[in-house]
Amino acid sequence: MIRASVIEVLRNDELLNQEVELSGWVRSRRSSKGGFSFIHINDGSCLDNIQAVADEKLANYNDILELSSGFSVCLIGRVVESGGKGQDREIQASQLSIIGSVEDPENYPISKKSHTFEYLRTMAHLRPRTNTFGALTRVRHAISHAVHEYFNDNGFFWVNTPIITSSDCEGAGELFKVSTLDALNRESTTSPEDDFFGTNTFLTVSGQLNVESYACALSKVYTFGPTFRAENSNTSRHLAEFWMIEPEIAFADLLANAKLAEDFLKAVVSKIMASCEKDIEFFNERVDPHLIEKLQALVEKEFTLMNYSEAVDVLQKSGSEFEFPVSWGADLQSEHERFLTEKIASGPVVVTDYPKEIKAFYMRLNDDEKTVAAMDVLVPGVGELIGGSQREERLEILDSRMDERLKEELWWYRELRRYGTVPHAGFGLGFERLVLYLTGMENVRDAIPFPRTPKNVSF
Ligand code: 4AD
Ligand code: MG
Repeated sequence: MIRASVIEVLRNDELLNQEVELSGWVRSRRSSKGGFSFIHINDGSCLDNIQAVADEKLANYNDILELSSGFSVCLIGRVVESGGKGQDREIQASQLSIIGSVEDPENYPISKKSHTFEYLRTMAHLRPRTNTFGALTRVRHAISHAVHEYFNDNGFFWVNTPIITSSDCEGAGELFKVSTLDALNRESTTSPEDDFFGTNTFLTVSGQLNVESYACALSKVYTFGPTFRAENSNTSRHLAEFWMIEPEIAFADLLANAKLAEDFLKAVVSKIMASCEKDIEFFNERVDPHLIEKLQALVEKEFTLMNYSEAVDVLQKSGSEFEFPVSWGADLQSEHERFLTEKIASGPVVVTDYPKEIKAFYMRLNDDEKTVAAMDVLVPGVGELIGGSQREERLEILDSRMDERLKEELWWYRELRRYGTVPHAGFGLGFERLVLYLTGMENVRDAIPFPRTPKNVSF
């Protein structure tokens, strides 16, 4: 007996007219007049269901008549060409056993009718059984595969940077503390020296500082792992726990970095359009009718490059009313970012050279001494997808942007500038935002299996 998944039954011609065993969850069942039941089964291997035809002659036919959405079943039968509309194969069941029934089928939380994404977030344990979350999960997996493939093909090495850290890379103070003091029932007056690591420790907000040491040895490296931010912002773009992809390249400046970001995005997007064709079509049909058009355009069009001062100028001259006024020195808000990508460029925009006051200490100071070699990649619908920069490789200037405490804490980071320093650059890409971009979904909470946001850590 050949064990087969739905995708294998539908795509593998060698299985035609073979007897197979297939397991999955019932999506629907209906009876026909001639004494048959048609059962649609999904196992997550692809968007499509397989139709099983069960004859009333089957010994447990009465049980089969009870099947409804959510039951788990194991089916044995022959794969045949199907005459049914929209189906080119089905399985003629010789055995159909019920593995797990659904208590109270009327109240199965994700019964067939469509549900809002808000509701499905409260059912994070069952939403993977829906078409949308099945497709999201497959696409998310395929993106992560494509990311590793891109870097591997281009000579990058994957470096696993630590999750527990003692420094705040971005300096924004959005850290989750890691401590065993309470767990050990010590008094809260104990000092950091009494804690597990003998100092204050946190969950990392970025692997960048660590990965820079590897770039300054292996030349092309990247991290891809979970990052954490105690950002109290309840937006559709922010998670407290998210995954970040951070390439870092040595002997490279900001332009090389921007080129890498563009090449990387184009490669990943075209890969996914090819490898997840059916799922992407599904999102185009059900979620965002312009998705395929938008992805195609990203692959074909050159990204628009403008510096921060030009962006401010364009926004000010646009004559548009913004909630947050635009002025040189202030950070761009998401309404401005969307305006630039959706109204001005109709596509991705790379904004470079931001005022040094609004960017992190490690970004390289430009010759004007007012701006740093930073870049944000903004895309329509999502806003900021990537944040990166050329790093300050000159010790004296780096020191001038760090206070005494930071210099002491990051002594090892400073040493990279003392021993064979090189121009280097890198960026961070929010994985869930990339999943949004590729699926047309609107909320990052739907781009990760179990989202963590303020006051929300169920499941
Ligand atoms: O712009 P950010 O803060 O850059 C860094 O952390 C740098 N150290 C990266 C580097 O140069 N290696 O974050 C990078 C990206 C953002 O552009 C955004 O896509 C995503 O990470 N991001 C978030 N995604 C989901 N939820 C959040 N709270 C996020 N914060 C940032
Ligand atoms: Mg940023």
